[in-house]
Amino acid sequence: METYGKLCTEFYDISKPEAPADALEFYLRHFSAAEGPVLEPMCGSGRFLIPFLEKGIDIDGVDASPHMLQACQVHCERKGLRPVLYQQLLQELDLPHRYAYIFIPAGSFGLVTDKKDAAESLQRLYQHLLPGGKLVIEIETTFAQPEVSGKWHEWRITRADGAELVFSALPMYDTKNQLQEDIHRYQLFNNGQLIETEIEHLSLRLYEPARFQKLLEDTGFADVRATRGYEDTKIDGGEKVVVFECRKM
Ligand SMILES: C[S@@+](CC[C@H](N)C(=O)[O-])C[C@H]1O[C@@H](n2cnc3c(N)ncnc32)[C@H](O)[C@@H]1O
Repeated sequence: METYGKLCTEFYDISKPEAPADALEFYLRHFSAAEGPVLEPMCGSGRFLIPFLEKGIDIDGVDASPHMLQACQVHCERKGLRPVLYQQLLQELDLPHRYAYIFIPAGSFGLVTDKKDAAESLQRLYQHLLPGGKLVIEIETTFAQPEVSGKWHEWRITRADGAELVFSALPMYDTKNQLQEDIHRYQLFNNGQLIETEIEHLSLRLYEPARFQKLLEDTGFADVRATRGYEDTKIDGGEKVVVFECRKM
């Protein structure tokens, strides 16, 4: 089943128009030391990629969702930017360039839930780095599991044209497999009338940091370092989000 479809993209775009300032600064800070082309896989509608482009940084984006990529393209065109975007799955990543710095923010890597696909994705990221290049990748840990499983939540936003988008989510957590398995429903209402419905099953793998560190090391990455989200400080074990930095030697 498709994820990040048309209504999901609209809701995501309106509700998350900008990257959190601390996260964006963190990923930009890593760039200044990298000095070379940048890749943001799973770039979505571009809330990280666009500020990089605005600074004149040579960055490419890749994402699986045509809707998210189309939204990114439209935002860029409005700002007079010309992004290089590719539609590919991370586990099938095959681009004509190599990069000095690759980053995946917002815990998106956990969306590749199949273990073989996750290992293959890390291999492909490794292959797309230049020698000495750096990967910075964010994961959500098992501490980020939903506080309440099996209960619907609802959010509503009004579009610029007055139509209403309603997002309903049923989070469920499979403790044994460390998988969050959510059902999402997006509904578009105009003058109180239901126009469109989109259903999405979204799975997210939560990691124990030591396990993810091992996955990176098994891929061949060197200098693997786990830090707290955006602070560059060591983790103490209770974090919901952990950022890993590592290099291709
Ligand atoms: C949570 S969004 C984050 C987008 C962007 N990084 C941001 O912070 O706004 C996750 C993105 O990952 C993409 N995605 C999910 N699974 C993917 C996969 N297997 N390969 C490539 N992209 C994928 C989705 O289409 C979506 O745009």
